[in-house]
Amino acid sequence: MKVVHTIQELRDQLRGQLRVAFVPTMGNLHDAHLALMKMAHQHGDPVVASIFVNRLQFGPNEDFDKYPRTLAEDIDKLQKQNLVYVLFAPNEKEMYPEPQEYRVQPPHDLGDILEGHFRPGFFVGVTTVVLKLFSCVQPKVAVFGKKDYQQLMIVRQMCRQFALPTEIIPHETVRDPDGLAMSSRNRFLSPAERKEAPRMARVLNHVRDRLRAGEHDVTAIEAEAQRELAGHGWKVDYVSVCRQRDLKAPTPPEVKAGEPLVVLSAAKLGTTRLIDNLEI
Ligand code: PAF
Repeated sequence: MKVVHTIQELRDQLRGQLRVAFVPTMGNLHDAHLALMKMAHQHGDPVVASIFVNRLQFGPNEDFDKYPRTLAEDIDKLQKQNLVYVLFAPNEKEMYPEPQEYRVQPPHDLGDILEGHFRPGFFVGVTTVVLKLFSCVQPKVAVFGKKDYQQLMIVRQMCRQFALPTEIIPHETVRDPDGLAMSSRNRFLSPAERKEAPRMARVLNHVRDRLRAGEHDVTAIEAEAQRELAGHGWKVDYVSVCRQRDLKAPTPPEVKAGEPLVVLSAAKLGTTRLIDNLEI
């Protein structure tokens, strides 16, 4: 695996490659990232990964400075896995040599709800860096995890609307055996919080079971799910049942007619904010 830090080196390494499969990450790699690399390998060749903690997508009171940076360990993991051909690990000066004034603004009805509501500016930061990374890597396909469900939808729509030649491939959420969705932020959980953390996935499963059993009162189901988390010390941002196609609230007739739904959640356990979702 070649590790490159500049856009020029990356371009030199990838010259003439037409089937690049790309996995963008912010590093602190765990098994879920490695699963994305495996999937990339099934859809293209060579596989390119990036590690870049993107300041643009962090709010002023978020964990940018605290975000785990573990490049040496990450390189080690990728080398052992032996799937990635080039790792692009630019520093901030390389990615943003001048203030990044041109930004990609996702549509407000998709970008300002759920994560976008609780993390203003987050999706502008994500789409801007993803477009820039795509422009550097020029991938044929790129793999994104479904844990960041709204991010996946927004990136997909951006590619469609800008006619980018990159196909977005979704990967199912990878979970620990107790159901907790893998995330770099899980390492911040205390032992007691780590024990509590799988409750979020259990709550989502319960929401799914109730809807599958034919209950239609989405608002009541959401409220009860939020109460369940709050009752165990979580500070809940949302538990929200949405239509898969646009993340809007389903109407009662749509729920009854079996509209494809997804339940999404975000909540803080101590100081660690976790998100998860489940398709129904
Ligand atoms: O999902 C992430 O890790 C990030 O949002 C991404 C897509 C790498 C952009 O910084």
